[in-house]
Amino acid sequence: MGNSAAERGLRSAREEKKMKSFDVAIDGPSGAGKSSLARRCAAELGLLYVDTGAIYRTVGLAALRRGVDRKDETAVAAILPELEIQMAYEDGEQRMYLNGEDVSREIRMPEISMCASDVSAHAAVRSFLLEMQRKLARENCVIMDGRDIGTVVLPEAKLKIYLTASPEARADRRMKELVAKGVEQPYEEVLRDIIQRDEQDMNREVAPLRQAEDAVLVDTTEIDFDESFRLLCGIIRERMEAEA
Ligand code: DC
Repeated sequence: MGNSAAERGLRSAREEKKMKSFDVAIDGPSGAGKSSLARRCAAELGLLYVDTGAIYRTVGLAALRRGVDRKDETAVAAILPELEIQMAYEDGEQRMYLNGEDVSREIRMPEISMCASDVSAHAAVRSFLLEMQRKLARENCVIMDGRDIGTVVLPEAKLKIYLTASPEARADRRMKELVAKGVEQPYEEVLRDIIQRDEQDMNREVAPLRQAEDAVLVDTTEIDFDESFRLLCGIIRERMEAEA
């Protein structure tokens, strides 16, 4: 944070915050459509969208570049003091900076997904990133998505949603996104990665992915993006009105 573009991008969401605190926590497995749905709902409802996976991806990229053993918490923890991770909003898009370098594109490469999942299993990494996420929610009305937002990061969020879909439906969607970006990966590999990442994110000891007790379950296996958007936006709007 701290540069003027980021400040400008955050201003309206910050003004909203002064009026009323309203945060939405969205958790769920990879490829459930959290990011694209949350981004569109945030734009529609005047909230700030925060993609926390991008922050873990930035740490995953740093670990990959430095060649550390990502399963070794001590080795990963040792690089954290050298990492300056910044998030900025430019033209309404969240961008990630690693020690001053814009890594927003690079963190989207398929191999970074598992790197992010690996480093995210460590308590040292999670506590390193916790305050950054909470600060964003203190200063803005946010829709924040991730794996532990409703359970750990924002347990007091006004609305919690657990967004899921079958692994096959998620793999289909991920394939389409990759094709659109010109990234080639066989379907079987995409499906295998999704299942492996679910397994890892749900079974780690620290802040595992799980549905918060008070979260609304939304399963998008059988519904397309537009329908999912209308459903999600409707749930959020209804809660906003109830809180107003
Ligand atoms: O949302 P994503 O697929 O970009 O996230 C990449 C990895 O980061 C995911 O597999 C687990 C981790 N992550 C996490 O542990 N907690 C979060 N709040 C967000 C992401």
